[in-house]
Amino acid sequence: MTEKIVVLGSNGQIGTELVTALRTAYGESNVVACDIRRPDYDIKNSGPFEFVNVLEKDTLNAIFQKYKPTQVYLLAALLSATGEQNPKLAWDLNMNGLLNILDLAITYKTAKVYWPSSIAVFGPNSPKDLTPQFCVMDPNTVYGISKLAGERWCEYYHQKFGLDVRSIRYPGLISWKAAPGGGTTDYAIHIFHDALKKASYTSFLNAGTELPMMYMDDAIRGTIELMDANADDITIRSSYNFTGVSFTPETLADEIRKHIPEFTLNYGANDPRQQIADSWPRSIDDSYAAKDWGWKPEFDLGKLTADMFKNLKK
Ligand code: SER
Repeated sequence: MTEKIVVLGSNGQIGTELVTALRTAYGESNVVACDIRRPDYDIKNSGPFEFVNVLEKDTLNAIFQKYKPTQVYLLAALLSATGEQNPKLAWDLNMNGLLNILDLAITYKTAKVYWPSSIAVFGPNSPKDLTPQFCVMDPNTVYGISKLAGERWCEYYHQKFGLDVRSIRYPGLISWKAAPGGGTTDYAIHIFHDALKKASYTSFLNAGTELPMMYMDDAIRGTIELMDANADDITIRSSYNFTGVSFTPETLADEIRKHIPEFTLNYGANDPRQQIADSWPRSIDDSYAAKDWGWKPEFDLGKLTADMFKNLKK
């Protein structure tokens, strides 16, 4: 069967790279990119694009009607830092956007749905090191609350209606193609740009703030591997723990100095994102992803740093 894939939120940090990967795998005309904003990237010229707001049910319905997708990826969301500036909008977009898609996937018998969750589902009372798949979860950002509630809805639709919905709890994603979307982990991208521009960076997170991270190449490969896995092998229908490498701003700066020896790292004061970071895990146990669908990251800190510089210099 030919796949027909709809990606909602195609212009964001993940969507920009996921659409390209899916078009390579499934054919350009079979992957429909959708966003509320006009795409700036290759996306516009390499396949179909539609303006879609995931909160507009009629528009969404028309997209399902027109393309009869076999797979839908819902990436449209407000992230942790932006979400705190507009909590009600974050809740509305992250929650009702998901419910709209889950309902339409049932109506149109969409074979598979992908929806990303995040390390933000964990909170101050979750274990910080090698945070397990199942543990106390008390998120204190609207983003984290919406992702945790969304995970429960995904599992609910799977159990009640047999919907094949799959999800990953992404750590901070590091990439060079598109700008990050307003998260707490964005410092780990800004630092590369500033290192090249002025050999110094002022971090909005404090020294010692260790967070789970991943290079985008790994994230895209892992996402497609999860979507390609046998449905029977997927034992987690809320969202899988998933991780690449954990580091602090100073470890990242040490790695950057291997490329730019004069690089200096400073720290800003009292950024609200520090409190968010302090409530999140330092590292993640992703053994369910390894066991169920063979997940294994390829990029360690050295490899991702080298690849970031290689591409940003171009
Ligand atoms: N990168 C995201 C954020 O910082 C985590 O899911 O909000």
